[in-house]
Amino acid sequence: MSTSKTSPKGQKAVSNIVADKAAEEKDADQKDQKHALDKNSLDQKKVAESYSHVDHSKSAALFARAKEHIPGGVNSPVRSCKAVGGEPVFIHHADGAYMYDEDENRYIDYVGSWGAMILGHRHPRVSQAIEDAVQCGTSYGAPCRAEVEMAELICQMVPSVEMVRMVNSGTEACMSAIRLARAFTKRNLIVKFDGCYHGHADAFLVKAGSGLATLGLNTAASSPGVPGEFTAMTMSLPYNNVDALREAFAKKGDEIAAIIVEPVVGNAGVIVPTEEFLKSMQGLCKDTGALLIFDEVMTGFRVSLGGAQEKFGVKPDLTCFGKVIGGGLPVGAYGGRKDIMEMIAPLGPVYQAGTLSGNPLAMAAGLAQLRFLRSGKPNKELALTTEALATGLKEVGAKLNVPLQVVSVPGMLSVFFTSEEVKDFDSALKCNTELFGKVWHGLIKRGIYWPPSQFEAAFISAVHSRHDVQETIAAFEDSISEAK
Ligand SMILES: Cc1ncc(COP(=O)(O)O)c(C=O)c1O
Repeated sequence: MSTSKTSPKGQKAVSNIVADKAAEEKDADQKDQKHALDKNSLDQKKVAESYSHVDHSKSAALFARAKEHIPGGVNSPVRSCKAVGGEPVFIHHADGAYMYDEDENRYIDYVGSWGAMILGHRHPRVSQAIEDAVQCGTSYGAPCRAEVEMAELICQMVPSVEMVRMVNSGTEACMSAIRLARAFTKRNLIVKFDGCYHGHADAFLVKAGSGLATLGLNTAASSPGVPGEFTAMTMSLPYNNVDALREAFAKKGDEIAAIIVEPVVGNAGVIVPTEEFLKSMQGLCKDTGALLIFDEVMTGFRVSLGGAQEKFGVKPDLTCFGKVIGGGLPVGAYGGRKDIMEMIAPLGPVYQAGTLSGNPLAMAAGLAQLRFLRSGKPNKELALTTEALATGLKEVGAKLNVPLQVVSVPGMLSVFFTSEEVKDFDSALKCNTELFGKVWHGLIKRGIYWPPSQFEAAFISAVHSRHDVQETIAAFEDSISEAK
């Protein structure tokens, strides 16, 4: 219990503030312990509940209704499960590492809202922060304290970021970052890499050109509605291919505003960059005056507390964030060097705005999540869990004699059904997607919610237990055996 007193001036004495903070911490620790206990009791219940995940009738009925008024029945395409020839299950609620669908089936969740739920669902600190914040109103359209605290925290945790602007999604963050890069460099061309996704802004919806012959010229849009004139200013190159990168800069170096890259690819399945690739990007940008933009929407605060840039020791000029910094509420942010960020309105001429940017609920949830991550414990936990899962899945491949590649970094993992090393999008495309689809169906019926596409990363949270990992490995073994 807090015993704080208020001084005559209405200011709390410093000692009382310290006491309040200590009491809050103690309370939060107790909630964390309770959360862990709840999780263990759920673990024990699991065995009894397992493998009964076959009735999807309520989900099917909802999907039929959804299709009447929502395009494809979903509000984001990958959720439709089309890529695996299935239908989505509709989630009723989620808790810790688990999601429960409308038919009361329980799943170990490896989507985690595509990475947002790094502490699992309904983490007590995050839930409490949202509950507290809602008491003060849901949106102001005016500045609030939490925005300042969030900016300070991001800059402390990711030192390349000296200033940061909050937005509402990863798409907005990336879109705004390239506008800023273009304005700063007074150049138009953007380099991205095949298989990397930076949201659905026009400039990023570019199909890979077929090699160097098409550099910067044949940059076909991968969606109708995107004018070719827009995508002509985006070059898409093969990931991890230093020669292609050098060639592009040799030809167009003085026109390139920025390289934008997923420093570990998540959107083609997990692909890890080579050191040479990272060094080349950094060197070419430095030599030509182009900016290096790391899209850490997935990797930020996950693969290392300071993101992929900390893990690999590369300092980008700008960084994009999303998902993780909202604790499950809609958020994004972009930030970086002060001299660049100072170009943004109202300080500078580059326009970018947002009615709900820095929303107090999203800030509260994100702050609670990031503050807890900063203790270091959750990242350590998710790295160990990812390693255990990766090891077990590799053993399954060897035992069943099925060609597969397990690629992982802390908190992200892909199982590629191919015998070849996956180092870029082309090698990912060689996977046996039919086998992946069959295995996915096997997993869902065994209570494993795995991303419904061969070309997506699975996300491991800090609350996935070793029990969950064992259950997942066993489900993979059974599903692959069934599908072969
Ligand atoms: C690396 C990366 N960048 C950007 C985005 C776009 O983020 P959002 O879906 O929040 O617009 C995503 C989404 O998955 C992503 O993975």
